[in-house]
Amino acid sequence: MSFHPVEQAPARLNRSELAVPGSAPQMFEKAAESDVDVIFLDLEDAVAPDEKAEARKNIIKALNEIDWGSKSMSVRINGLDTHYMYRDVVDVVEQAGERLDLIMVPKVGTAADVYAVDMLVTQIEDAKGYKKRIGFEHIIETALGMQNVSEIAAASKRNESLHFGVADYAASTRARTTIIGGVNPDYSVLTDPADDGARETHWGDMWHYAIARMVVAARANGLRPIDGPFGDFGDREGYLAACRRAAVLGCEGKWAIHPSQIALANEIMSPSEAEVTKAKRILDAMAEAEASGQGAVSLDGRLIDYASIRQAEVLVEKARQIAG
Ligand code: GLV
Ligand code: MG
Repeated sequence: MSFHPVEQAPARLNRSELAVPGSAPQMFEKAAESDVDVIFLDLEDAVAPDEKAEARKNIIKALNEIDWGSKSMSVRINGLDTHYMYRDVVDVVEQAGERLDLIMVPKVGTAADVYAVDMLVTQIEDAKGYKKRIGFEHIIETALGMQNVSEIAAASKRNESLHFGVADYAASTRARTTIIGGVNPDYSVLTDPADDGARETHWGDMWHYAIARMVVAARANGLRPIDGPFGDFGDREGYLAACRRAAVLGCEGKWAIHPSQIALANEIMSPSEAEVTKAKRILDAMAEAEASGQGAVSLDGRLIDYASIRQAEVLVEKARQIAG
């Protein structure tokens, strides 16, 4: 290991994260009763400019009055380039800061953006005498944010997670995209002709670099990498595939823009029973090996070593968290 310690963000389940517009209070109760891990009440892009003030009031009331159970509650504030943002932070944190676990910062571009929000939140928390510190979730969804992702990830002790905001990222980078978070058949390779001249098209994942880049910055700073929205909520298989791809790259959760996506994200982002059983067997085998002075052993014909232990420990710990 490096001499540089990586401090982990507070352990918080974040397999699924439901987006709920602050201007749609009729959706709040259903969200509170769902099985989602994190809810973000939105003040940004799902809310029209003339509804921002009302949405803020709805959110404050809902945070104070609705029983959200053990869910983590977040509010997505408006961007730092708008005149809504300061009031989002001041009003929501002052009036509902005790039930608020997280603030989601959209379109974060530089470490100084994080610093600015941190300064504001710190003043309000201190003035109100809150005991709990509110954490930050940052949406990496602009070319600037992706360029500075490492500095952003390291910019505050409040940082807990980085989210890939694929819709705005596509707009910012001018990527040629069709549906939010989906694939594009033009991002493909054509195989060389076979003997009979036949050629095949292999689709690629146009979001691979962006997600992988964000995962590295998040993990290097002890944060949770979370994949963002998948727009076609009627496409169950497409959503599941996007979840699996994100999970394979190291993401530990995905947004749900519709309640029907929650169970799917929870399923894919939870370790399966078989994985947990295998992880426990690895830990047992390594404990035995250690007791007999060996550094590496084999299990089911495959080598296991200390790296296997670390992976197994992460998995078993996740399963323990999910079991509550
Ligand atoms: C989320 O905010 C996105 O732009 O995808
Ligand atoms: Mg966005």
